[in-house]
Amino acid sequence: FKMFVPRESTALSLGAHDVANAISAYATEHTIDLTLVRNGSRGLFWLEPLVEVETSQGRFAYGPVEESDVAAVMQDIVDNLLNGQAQKHTLALGLTDELSYLKKQTRLTFARAGITDPLSLEDYIAMDGFSGLHKALAYSSQEIVTTVVDSGLRGRGGAAFPTGIKWQTVHDAPSEKKYIVCNADEGDSGTFADKLVMECDPFMLIEGMIIAALAVGADQGYIYLRSEYPVADEILQEAIVIATQAGYLGNDVCGSGKTFNLEVRLGAEAYICGEETSLLESLEGKRGVVRFKPPLPAIEGLFGKPTIVNNVLSLSAIPYILSKGGQAYQQYGANRSRGTLPFQLAGNVKQGGLIELPFGASLQDLLDNFSGGTQSGRPIRAIQVGGPLGAYLPPSKFTLSLDYEEFSKASAVLGHGGIVIFDDTVNMLEQARFSMEFCVDESCGKCTPCRIGSTRGVEVLDRIRDDDDRAANMVLLTDLCDTMINGSLCAMGSMTPIPVTSAYRDFPEDFQLPASQTV
Ligand code: NAI
Ligand code: SF4
Repeated sequence: FKMFVPRESTALSLGAHDVANAISAYATEHTIDLTLVRNGSRGLFWLEPLVEVETSQGRFAYGPVEESDVAAVMQDIVDNLLNGQAQKHTLALGLTDELSYLKKQTRLTFARAGITDPLSLEDYIAMDGFSGLHKALAYSSQEIVTTVVDSGLRGRGGAAFPTGIKWQTVHDAPSEKKYIVCNADEGDSGTFADKLVMECDPFMLIEGMIIAALAVGADQGYIYLRSEYPVADEILQEAIVIATQAGYLGNDVCGSGKTFNLEVRLGAEAYICGEETSLLESLEGKRGVVRFKPPLPAIEGLFGKPTIVNNVLSLSAIPYILSKGGQAYQQYGANRSRGTLPFQLAGNVKQGGLIELPFGASLQDLLDNFSGGTQSGRPIRAIQVGGPLGAYLPPSKFTLSLDYEEFSKASAVLGHGGIVIFDDTVNMLEQARFSMEFCVDESCGKCTPCRIGSTRGVEVLDRIRDDDDRAANMVLLTDLCDTMINGSLCAMGSMTPIPVTSAYRDFPEDFQLPASQTV
């Protein structure tokens, strides 16, 4: 029979290799004919390592399995499950597909995650893999771009710019040489969706990049990968070799006569290198400092050539869109936020993991249906959505629709879909100070409001904390935030005030401001 143990980095950090080795050793010792597949993760992190067994009724799960549980789990599988009886072990979870955490999701991008062996082309193709590419090969480049425009897909890195319009700009830019750059420098706190794609379904990203290349006439692609992701690096490198050997990459993509080569480049371990122009500098071998825009990378990007810079999730949505059509994708969602977003539940939470849903669900839905409450068992006081530059939301805003428009109206951002939960022990003045400090550490230093403003921000917040002329320093803090918002060159400086202002606006008691004096 067949069993599955993930080789994804969360599962690995929780001992998945040891569990897999113990299962193999048990099978050898008991002369069991076992095929052990190292699959990706389903994204239910609190259950990792999640071990699955294939049966005629579907896959049954056990989790979280430790090495010391293996003998008893194997005995349960052999004695009960494979004899048509119910699982009896305490870690038994029933049919994987029936787990409510999975059942309540709409998995378009993560449809294969955890089901397939990430490096099996056969598995990928069996689950609709490369069907989008085959459609794209039959389309003109303009038809591909139009399909992406029709889907309503907007950049999933955080800025939500319409992907199809970006592709159209690169498509229309006259140049012999163009590039596709995948931004895989996933730097937002609490986010892991890009990593999960690369470790669990790398061919989907590769397929998305090939389709992008066909759409704009690019012959070279780079994946700029966060260097703290060694497992993703290893899997991507192997996947690129396999895809090249199978003729999907190289000098004759699927016999079309078109060239597309793909390489992984490791990032420079700096948050700012996730900003697209600084990423391009870094990719060119220089220090990651932000460039002025215009010119946009779509016109003058890598080495001065027209370049698509898209996040992993944007490129990974493309195969589905080409395969099923732009309309099929755009039927999901709310307002002008079309399709699905993989939310990433993290922080002080019992059931952290990946939750792919159409835009329009609320934080309360995520809390009620998925979170299981806080890890500490204490009440939730704040949720930061959209990474370290996102707003802290109080419980009164948990019913907001998770879509770009509603969040923008509430002076908040969805960003890359990271959701970090804090219980009632959090001090929001300290969180505001942390945001400024983060900016001090991560600023590229090119412009004054960000480079110097963030340092002054930490000092001002210290004075407010120490009640050193609190009222005057609150005025100074709001002025400073205005200056950073309006005077910074990129999102790093202009968005740092978002968590700061949300902290004093929605949690004035931590700044010891009476509600009547909120700024
Ligand atoms: P932006 O709004 O300047 O640009 C968005 C994208 O659209 C860029 O790729 C830009 O080149 C492109 N674009 C704009 N106008 C265009 C046109 N007319 N034609 C073609 N392309 C065009 O936003 P930016 O500064 O690139 O990103 C800021 C966002 O990044 C923030 O909203 C934040 O949420 C997110 N972010 C994400 C992180 C992560 O780890 N994923 C980390 C930090 C920030
Ligand atoms: Fe650099 Fe900060 Fe200015 Fe962005 S806002 S260009 S990170 S100094």
